[in-house]
Amino acid sequence: MVNTLGLIGLIILVVHFAVPLSYYIYAKLTWYNKRWSLRIREDYKPKVSIIIPTFNEANIIEQRLDNIYSQDYPRSLVEVVIVDSASTDGTPERVADWARRHGDLRVKIIAESERRGKAHALNNALGYVEGEVVVLADADAFWDRKALSKAVKWLSSPDVGAVSCVKIPLKKGLLEVEKGYRDFYNILRIAESKAYSTPIFHGELAAFKTELLRSLGGFPVDIGADDSHMATLIALNGYRAIIPEDIITYETIPSKGYFKWRVRRAQHLIQHFTRTLKHWRRNSLFKNILITEIYLHVFNPWLLPLSTALLLASAVISGDIIPLILIAIGLALLLYKPYRTWIITQLILITAMIRNIVTKELVWEKHTK
Ligand code: GDD
Ligand code: MN
Repeated sequence: MVNTLGLIGLIILVVHFAVPLSYYIYAKLTWYNKRWSLRIREDYKPKVSIIIPTFNEANIIEQRLDNIYSQDYPRSLVEVVIVDSASTDGTPERVADWARRHGDLRVKIIAESERRGKAHALNNALGYVEGEVVVLADADAFWDRKALSKAVKWLSSPDVGAVSCVKIPLKKGLLEVEKGYRDFYNILRIAESKAYSTPIFHGELAAFKTELLRSLGGFPVDIGADDSHMATLIALNGYRAIIPEDIITYETIPSKGYFKWRVRRAQHLIQHFTRTLKHWRRNSLFKNILITEIYLHVFNPWLLPLSTALLLASAVISGDIIPLILIAIGLALLLYKPYRTWIITQLILITAMIRNIVTKELVWEKHTK
C-alpha cells in the first residue's frame, strides 16, 4: 500500500501536470478560437521608430537592417534608432556604412560609451525617438515582410497599447526542444491575448504606443524582461497588450550554450513575474491570466522535485515499491518528446530561480548563433 508520504507525493505530482494542462486546454478551447473584438483602422499609418539595441552584433546587423528595409511599411514613415552600448566589434561603424548605402531610410545611431544593459540603452533611445509608435527589435531576429505593418494595424485600435509577435525558431542548435516549447507557448500567448492580454512579450518585435511608454516612465532597468514587464504594466493600466497570430518573427537559436541562454531568459521572466506580484489586484480582467502565469513560472516547477523527493522518501521508509515504479515511469517517459521538453523547461525555471539569488544577469554574455 502507498503510505501517506507517497500519497501526498502523488497528489503533488498530479497537480504539477494537471494545472498547466488544464489551463492550456481551457485557453485553447475557450479563448484561442475567439474573434478579436477590436476596432481596427486600416488607414492608420503613423510614424514608426524602430529601436535596435546592440552589443557586438557586427556579424548580423547588416542583415537585420536589410530585413527592416524590406518591410512592406512606407519607408518614409520609418526611422531606425540603433542604440549601441560600447561594442568592441565595430557594430556602429557597420550601421553607419549601411546607412550611407541606404539613403532613403532614416537611421540614427546612439553610441553609449559604457555598457549598462539593454533596458538602460532602450530608455536612452526613447529620448531620441520621434515616432508615434516605438518598435523594439533585437538585432539577431528577423521579421516576416508584413510584420511591421501588421503590428501597426493592431495598434490602430484605441484599446490596444502594445503588441508583440509569434516567434519561430530558426534551424540551428537545439531546435527540437526549442520548437516544442514554442508551439505550446505561442498558442497560450495568442489565447491569452484574445481573452484580454498576455503578460509575456518578445523583444524580437515588441511595439508600443510611444505616449503610453513615456507616461509609464520607460523600461524598468532592474528587470531583465523589460519588454514583458512593460506590456504587463500596460495591461494593468487598462490597455490591451496582445500577441496576434499574424505577426511572425524568426529567431536564431544559439549553437553553443543553449541551456545557459534559456536559464538567463528564464531568470529575466521570473524577475518580471515576482515584481508583478504586487500589482495584480489592479485589473480584474487580467488578474486571472497573470496569477496563472505567475503560478506556472514561479511555483509549479518546484512541485516536480518535491513530489519526487516525497515518493523516494516513502519508498525508503515503507519499503514500498509503487513510488519507485512511478518514478521509473517518469524517467521512461523522457523518451516522449513533449514530456521531455516540459521537464527540461521546469528544470530551467528552477535553475533560474536559484541563480537569481546570486546574479540578476542584467548584462549578459553574447551567444554565438
Ligand atoms: N544596447 C545594448 N546594450 N544592447 C544590448 C545589450 C546592452 O548591454 N545587451 C544585449 N543587447 C542587445 C543585443 O545586441 C540584442 O540585439 C538584444 O539586446 C537581445 O539580446 P540577445 O543577446 O540576443 O539576447 P536574447 O535573444 O536572449 O534576448 C531575449 O531575451 C531578453 C531577456 O532575457 C529577447 O527577448 C530580449 O529582447 C530580452 O530582453
Ligand atoms: Mn537574441
